Amino acid sequence: AAPTRYEAENATCDGTIDSNHAGFSGTGFCNATNAVGGFAQWTVTAASAGTATIGIRYANGSTANRPADISVNGAVVQAASAFNPTGAWTTWVTKTLTAPVNAGSNTIRVAGTTANGPANLDFVDF
Ligand code: GCU
Repeated sequence: AAPTRYEAENATCDGTIDSNHAGFSGTGFCNATNAVGGFAQWTVTAASAGTATIGIRYANGSTANRPADISVNGAVVQAASAFNPTGAWTTWVTKTLTAPVNAGSNTIRVAGTTANGPANLDFVDF
């Protein structure tokens, strides 16, 4: 089935929902706190338990990687996962991973592991 798109502006963002860098989906993106642990967290629904594909759209206009721990239901499934520079804050790319999920409600959290916090986060496709 086609994934469902979960916009950051409908998720939990520990920073601000901004709209100053074009190209985002929906009405904005999460500009999380520039700190270790700065995060966005989505609640998504799985039709069944198993291995799911997760797409995370982001922009990183800085010149450095913005590594982040990706957690599902509180368990880190990718530690310090790379969110490499995209060349501009207006250049958005989707990073894809797979992770085990439960049937029904699941949380997906992207939390920066450096003082820069995570990249700007636009949506999760799940
Ligand atoms: C700039 C940019 C923000 C970004 C921030 C950062 O201020 O405009 O959108 O979040 O850099 O470095 O995280």
